[in-house]
Amino acid sequence: MADSPVSNAVLSSAPAAAARPRRVTAPDVAAFKGRGTPVVMVTAYDAPSARIADGAGVDVILVGDSLANVVLGYDDTLQVTIDDMEHHVAAVARTQPRALVVGDLPWLSYHVSTADTVTNAARLVRAGAGAVKLEGGRKRLDAVRAILDAEIPVMGHLGLTPQSVHALGGFRVQGKDLEAARAIVDDAGALAEAGCFAIVLECVPDAVARLVTDTVPVPTIGIGAGRHCDGQVLVFHDLLGLEERVTPKFVRRYASLADDARDAIARFADDVRGGRFPASDETYHAADNVAEVMIAVYGDDSAASTEPADDVEAPHPT
Ligand code: KIV
Repeated sequence: MADSPVSNAVLSSAPAAAARPRRVTAPDVAAFKGRGTPVVMVTAYDAPSARIADGAGVDVILVGDSLANVVLGYDDTLQVTIDDMEHHVAAVARTQPRALVVGDLPWLSYHVSTADTVTNAARLVRAGAGAVKLEGGRKRLDAVRAILDAEIPVMGHLGLTPQSVHALGGFRVQGKDLEAARAIVDDAGALAEAGCFAIVLECVPDAVARLVTDTVPVPTIGIGAGRHCDGQVLVFHDLLGLEERVTPKFVRRYASLADDARDAIARFADDVRGGRFPASDETYHAADNVAEVMIAVYGDDSAASTEPADDVEAPHPT
């Protein structure tokens, strides 16, 4: 990561902020190109997932419109709105991650007038994103240029672009024939030339990803695009085994959290039904004199406790 003398100077004069590492910026991500260190990106959609991803040391947190499928229960990404995305970008950004937060522009938020496109991108920035991502190549250059002109960094997205699911005829690998492969390479060149700081390549053959990666001067970040990219991204719920319904070939599961969660909740239910939860040390107890008065007034079941009273405040998770 290139050091920024300006931000280091600002940090050193602000003791409260000094402990917080400098946040990754879009230019920092662009600077990964050719460095030999891959960009690591993962999606997150809320504060807990953002804290986990950032704690693991990723470079970029993408608040993806996959929010639709993995969190909101829709079948495709066409259902999420700019309101939804703003809400979830804000939740992620509130955790103040070190990683760059990229807000995904949803369908119909940049297929509109230039003014509305910029307004929508700005909403994600005001919610806390340091950059936005949009799908499509040469067809979307006007949108890319307008957003860049408003000083908002843009990440491109080529190959399988899920917002085009109907036009593409389904979720299929893209760039399989020579013409389609050439179109992806040309689109990538155009996005990079327009000023995108990185380009996601989704579900394309590795040879195509390699050609794009060798051709463009900005990092490519692959998902289902093989190993010849400048970085890799996976969806949080896929990587952790929280999403179990579909497992595309390119997903590697590093945990089985849905199994663990189901098992934990089943054990909780079992303990509740078996009278083993809560135990005395998981319970707040009244002082003896209060308990005695309550028993005298209301009977034995009201506040009966032989445990010492708690004089601590009930802790709150945050
Ligand atoms: O929305 C998303 O999760 C994405 C990734 C698949 C790159 O766009």
